[in-house]
Amino acid sequence: MASAQQLIGLVKSHAEGDSGRFYDLAMQLSAAEEQKGHTRLAEQLRQWANAGQAPSALATPTAIAAPRGDLAQFLLASYPSERLSSVILPTHIGDELAHIVVETRMREKLEEKGLKPRRRILLSGPPGTGKTLSAHSLAGELQFPLFSVMLHGLITKFMGETAQKLKLVFDAIKSTRGVYLFDEIDALAAARGDGNDVGEARRVLNSFLQFLDEDTGPSIVIATTNLAEILDRAVLRRFDLVLSYELPDAASIREALERRLIGFSISRLSWEKVIDCALGLSTADVVAAAEDAARRAVLGDRISITTLDLVSSLERRRSLQGLGRGGDAKESTSFCAKKSRSATPVPVQRRGRRKATE
Ligand SMILES: Nc1ncnc2c1ncn2[C@@H]1O[C@H](COP(=O)(O)OP(=O)(O)OP(=O)(O)O)[C@@H](O)[C@H]1O
Ligand SMILES: [Mg+2]
Repeated sequence: MASAQQLIGLVKSHAEGDSGRFYDLAMQLSAAEEQKGHTRLAEQLRQWANAGQAPSALATPTAIAAPRGDLAQFLLASYPSERLSSVILPTHIGDELAHIVVETRMREKLEEKGLKPRRRILLSGPPGTGKTLSAHSLAGELQFPLFSVMLHGLITKFMGETAQKLKLVFDAIKSTRGVYLFDEIDALAAARGDGNDVGEARRVLNSFLQFLDEDTGPSIVIATTNLAEILDRAVLRRFDLVLSYELPDAASIREALERRLIGFSISRLSWEKVIDCALGLSTADVVAAAEDAARRAVLGDRISITTLDLVSSLERRRSLQGLGRGGDAKESTSFCAKKSRSATPVPVQRRGRRKATE
């Protein structure tokens, strides 16, 4: 339940017509309820807080036509439906992203005091850990269109004039509010080592950094990379926020499996064995293994997923990723079972939910 102070603050801000404060407090309450596991209540609070926002402050979807001309060849527009709650993230990353949403919505309030919302975000980390999904969720949460910039196509197709084309993208960033996603930005940095492309890639990277510096518009720019270590400081310091994604821990693995297996009976699962077998895999792999186990259950006319189903599916994913020994389900199971016997037991606790954002 909300504390007396929170309730007083909520009523007072409403009475005083301070919609910004009201919104902040409502979102804090929602975060506190989510942390206690009251997800439905948290979602309802969020919806009411959003509904209470003045239309000008709330991000109404920008009326965009699909990008035209050259832009259409390397800018893909969509309106994602995902929300931040769709992504399973460590609390500190979830908090930062939630705060970006608040800062973006409270832009005017910040600007009154000479402050700016953070808008340039770099997400780094191994494949399949939710970087692209986070960018989609941020757009979905803000109800901004998402524009994915196809960097690779841009570089190869417009050799020699990439920087000019990049300027078109940054013009769009300035004029059309949205979340602009530069996925796998290391394509630029990595290409610096590629004999032929050295000059071109360096020009593009330099232009990118320069445009990023100059941009003061209302859009959010998100870059992602698997290889943060090859991005030099000149690149990193251009971003307002750099978040490092990691492979999921035991609690995140369990959450990913539970979410994906809603509608199936999983009450008899040996979580310790399942999680032990999943550690080291990405969230994307864990989700894929859950789907694989679910497909097999459906085809076998079962609604119950067994430990063997999941362990076998996970083991196949491990094998595909070159992790541990793979093989047929029987061998796989014994491998994971052996591993779980020799490993230190993994404490399986439900993950801490997102904290209040302020
Ligand atoms: N943290 C996560 N929470 C929930 N689902 C996730 C998460 N990470 C990955 N997934 C699942 O895996 C899919 C792929 O994830 P995503 O594309 O976001 O990974 P990525 O980090 O961008 O990988 P890459 O570096 O290969 O581009 C998602 O659509 C989702 O189904
Ligand atoms: Mg990605």
